[in-house]
Amino acid sequence: MSTQNKNGRKTTADIKKMKMQKEKITMLTAYDYGISSILDECDVDIILVGDSLGMVVLGYDTTLPVTMEDMLHHTKAVSRAAHNTLIIADMPFLSYQVSVQTALANAGRFLQEADAQAVKLEGGREYAETVQKIVLTGIPVMAHLGLTPQSIHQLGGYKVQGKNEDAARKIIEDAKIMEEAGAFSLVLECVPEKLAHEITNSLAIPTIGIGAGVHCDGQVLVINDMLGMYDKLTPKHVKKYANLNSDIKKAVNTYITEVKNGSFPDSNHSFK
Ligand code: KIV
Repeated sequence: MSTQNKNGRKTTADIKKMKMQKEKITMLTAYDYGISSILDECDVDIILVGDSLGMVVLGYDTTLPVTMEDMLHHTKAVSRAAHNTLIIADMPFLSYQVSVQTALANAGRFLQEADAQAVKLEGGREYAETVQKIVLTGIPVMAHLGLTPQSIHQLGGYKVQGKNEDAARKIIEDAKIMEEAGAFSLVLECVPEKLAHEITNSLAIPTIGIGAGVHCDGQVLVINDMLGMYDKLTPKHVKKYANLNSDIKKAVNTYITEVKNGSFPDSNHSFK
């Protein structure tokens, strides 16, 4: 029996079932109505309104300046377009770290005001109580381990995590702790393929990898990266499925030429 909710969107239960049925899970980010409509029509399983918003849409150097108001504004636009796809909103920096109470209140705003169905937050054991409280309140949580961009200044850069034995063991333990706290799935960002494989095999909840190899239960990419629209930073794990940066430049340059030489608008684009 399908566990889709009333508007037809996939649910977190559907996503968990996909792991049991060994069906790979697809997740992409979106930040606006237009892209969300396209992803929804393509039937991607999950749309994440990531706080990568800060870098690829708002022009910041990191995700740290992103606010709850930014995230709510963009999640509302994404949700309006989504009829099939599960919508997850990313909890921005300082929206869940200060106290369990503020974390719960902020997580609730994504469901109450922006029509998201779940939230994602970065971190391990230090947020076990927070995840437990949010989940017990009825809000599904996706955890996020490995490279956690909100800790960029502590990590010292966008580097692969879990490379030595101690670091790998800590990520394995944190993954287990997040599962026990009630997370319905887990993002693994920039960890060695072998480590991601071991974690994926040891958990009942699905893992979604980004730079974590092929053995995760699903994959996620930032939409602007995979469409070739954001070229400030291109990590090794990003595959460009299109090159919209050059396609857009070509279209804009053709428009400029045609307006300047008077060939646009022609009779097909004018009213008699
Ligand atoms: O903010 C984001 O887009 C993310 C994904 C890279 C997982 O957290």
